[in-house]
Amino acid sequence: MNTAYVDSNLADSERRERLYDGQIFVFSPRPSTLALVEHARTMIEGAFDGIDPLQAQYEMSVERYVEICAPLKPAFIHNDTTKELIRGVLTELGCDLERTYQDVPRLRMVTSHGYLTSGVGYAHHPHRDTWYSAPMSQLNWWLPIYDIESESSMAFHPHYWSHAVKNGSSEFNYYEWNSTGRKDAAKHVTSDTRKQPKPEEEMELDPQIRFVPPAGGIVLFSAAHMHSTVPNTSGRARYSIDFRTVHLDEVESMGGAPNVDSHPRGTSLRDFKRASDHADMPEEKVAPYDDQDAHVGELVYRPGA
Ligand SMILES: [Fe+2]
Repeated sequence: MNTAYVDSNLADSERRERLYDGQIFVFSPRPSTLALVEHARTMIEGAFDGIDPLQAQYEMSVERYVEICAPLKPAFIHNDTTKELIRGVLTELGCDLERTYQDVPRLRMVTSHGYLTSGVGYAHHPHRDTWYSAPMSQLNWWLPIYDIESESSMAFHPHYWSHAVKNGSSEFNYYEWNSTGRKDAAKHVTSDTRKQPKPEEEMELDPQIRFVPPAGGIVLFSAAHMHSTVPNTSGRARYSIDFRTVHLDEVESMGGAPNVDSHPRGTSLRDFKRASDHADMPEEKVAPYDDQDAHVGELVYRPGA
């Protein structure tokens, strides 16, 4: 049984408890999220230079679209205003910035009708983030930047909250991924061969749940939830922001959602920075999660390294 809480005023600790039990939280747009969305729009619209980003795919070659979006993603991630605005969102939603750690926000674009489905516009097959070395305590925050429709949203497959799926996560090494797979997104224009953990059995994707919040609304969920990108048939590109958080309480207690089928090597915990000042996750907190044998690549992803 999964519940969706809408505009809940629960304290963060109670909210996390429910999130780790598979419940999903949805929030209406509010000043901090609208400011973030406004900032993202300014960057996107600046990059497309007068062309409507929602319709741009009809105006240009897919190569040109990638050329515009590829630099936009890191520019958004490493922008100081972006960082400040994310902090604003966490504050407004009651997170303790001293105990909450966040990773860098991602900017994603999902074009319509399969125009671009690989590389920078990768359409995510059903997965749990925990297959990709996310800690069981990770929470995902997802916001659309422009209004979306059911046909351009994201889907949850709640049956799998408590049901295991045969999957390739045991072949996945996060450090190896940092040193190879992640770097080449912009090179993958028509197909994507980067090795990712996938379901290895037929899945029952219905019933599925899609949330369609207005621009600046938030969907907050456990990284252990099975979710996927809906193949966009809305006729307009979808642009969204997502970022992830962990709270030191669960990092220290090794708590979080139950692990039904995630067996990757390595951990993404080092990617998380303290929300208050972006201090690193202390190495002694990571140690209990780490697997020394897995150290074959880069512990932290450094773009351009
Ligand atoms: Fe995901």
